[in-house]
Amino acid sequence: MSNPEPSVMQKIVSLSKRRGFIFQSSEIYGGMNGCWDYGPLGVELKRNVKEAWWADMVSRHDDIGVLPGANSSFEMTGLDCSIIMHPQVWRCSGHHDLFHDMMVDCKESKKRYRHDQLRGRWAEYRDKKVFVTAMADPEEEDEAFTARAQKFFGLRAKDRDQIKWDGSACSLETIDELELVLGPDAKDAGTLTEPREFNLMFKTQMGALHNEDSMAYLRPETAQGIFVNFKNVVDSSRVKIPFGIAQVGKSFRNEITPRNFTFRVREFEQMEVEFFCHPDTSQEWYSYWRDRRMNWYLNHGLSSENLILREHHSDELSHYSTGTADIEYAFPFLPEGEYGELEGIAHRGDFDLRSHMEGKLDPNSKPLEVQLGENGKPLWKGSGKDLSYRDPVSNEKFIPHVIEPSAGADRAALAFLCEAYTEDNAPDDKGEMQSRVVLKFHPRLAPMKAAVLPLVKKDGMPEKAQEIYRELKRKFPVFYDVKGAVGRRYRRMDEAGTPFCVTVDGETLSDETVTLRERDSMVQTRLNVDEAIQAIQEAIDC
Ligand code: GAP
Repeated sequence: MSNPEPSVMQKIVSLSKRRGFIFQSSEIYGGMNGCWDYGPLGVELKRNVKEAWWADMVSRHDDIGVLPGANSSFEMTGLDCSIIMHPQVWRCSGHHDLFHDMMVDCKESKKRYRHDQLRGRWAEYRDKKVFVTAMADPEEEDEAFTARAQKFFGLRAKDRDQIKWDGSACSLETIDELELVLGPDAKDAGTLTEPREFNLMFKTQMGALHNEDSMAYLRPETAQGIFVNFKNVVDSSRVKIPFGIAQVGKSFRNEITPRNFTFRVREFEQMEVEFFCHPDTSQEWYSYWRDRRMNWYLNHGLSSENLILREHHSDELSHYSTGTADIEYAFPFLPEGEYGELEGIAHRGDFDLRSHMEGKLDPNSKPLEVQLGENGKPLWKGSGKDLSYRDPVSNEKFIPHVIEPSAGADRAALAFLCEAYTEDNAPDDKGEMQSRVVLKFHPRLAPMKAAVLPLVKKDGMPEKAQEIYRELKRKFPVFYDVKGAVGRRYRRMDEAGTPFCVTVDGETLSDETVTLRERDSMVQTRLNVDEAIQAIQEAIDC
């Protein structure tokens, strides 16, 4: 039997490893589930995503915003907070008690699964009925269910057709008869437990003593560092409401079933803004940030056919939110017509600042009755600090409302990688069309901006090319490649997503001109070196 053609996602995963974008973490020891390492090209891609975000949000931010009838420029500033924070932060934020997934355990295999992600299908053979489950990507799930059912019923491959299937695949959440469920790694049915809550925060201990007082958590979001520093920023930097505080950094979630490459992982980076505004204008700011963030992805190369903005239904909203919209992308690992979250834009009201002032709140922003921990200290006590804001002009005192655009750097990098992946045709050295793989990144995000290629490895061309390479390297990341036929080198650069190749030939030595070859159109233009540098720089800046 011939191997089936790999899916687009499989090709992207394999290219990522082959060209040094993304590797499995600790691969030589068998890998670490839910953790990934960025290789030489991947680290540049992800840095470019984060830098483009920071530039747009903070350093180059120059938007006048939305307030009607006013000169409404506003400030955006940044923070870089510690990953381990006071444990009380997570009690008051709600993460300690509410940040969980429902999970089921398998008593036979001792494995744990996320209840909503475990999918299966009813299968019947003779008088025996079972709900077979499997942890498989959507495109492989039918084959996985069949293989599981075949084994369970003790059938040979040629007798698979005798299995009767009832209904289509569905989530375990819709099944009540747990005694008839065959877990993904079990031999017998009925080994899965009832669903239970599982808190997603990673725990650690601070200091030498291991007791309740030394318990700490790795932050599950960067947002709380911003809330607890709200007063520090206002007092130290003279910002006036409305203003935003941005942070980029690692977050950690003990996901029960990390999956889909870098989409759902246990260690990832977030790019978050907490935007503080007056309650009366918060709805306008919410709409403003929704649109601005959507445009950011479009401006950096995601196509509008693959991107949607989805408002949450009221039953989907987080405990703190009065409105949330997700920006979602049609990742190739998802079934046709389905989208995965790239970023959430949430209207958080005054929930966080009030909670950190007054103690943990219920979803209606009322303080909950204080409970005492084992050590006799109140569990939900707030900081007691006044986190309200006094308007310097009107003298009004209020707790600001917050709009939060919260993006994942890894998911954004993955979306840009998936969008960039293209298979088309290009002429080889003899002018014959051959298929090529090209990563069509926006030049701003491309890991390397250009490659300098001497046409041949003699006649002074490598020396001249080295000179140009060093000149370009001072301005942006650039490759030097001398090995192989020039057509093959172009293809190598296409696969790395390098938007320009600068080819040095005999003429360059006499008149300082080079050939500038553009990755997507493959158009070649004769320019002098300064013009080539300018063309590359303009493409990066646009
Ligand atoms: N402060 C709000 C917050 O953290 P979230 O929707 O839980 O909201 C924001 O996370 C973004 O962080 C998501 O849209 C996603 O891009 C990224 N993210 C969350 N969990 C992730 C995970 N396990 N792996 C990769 N990225 C994740």
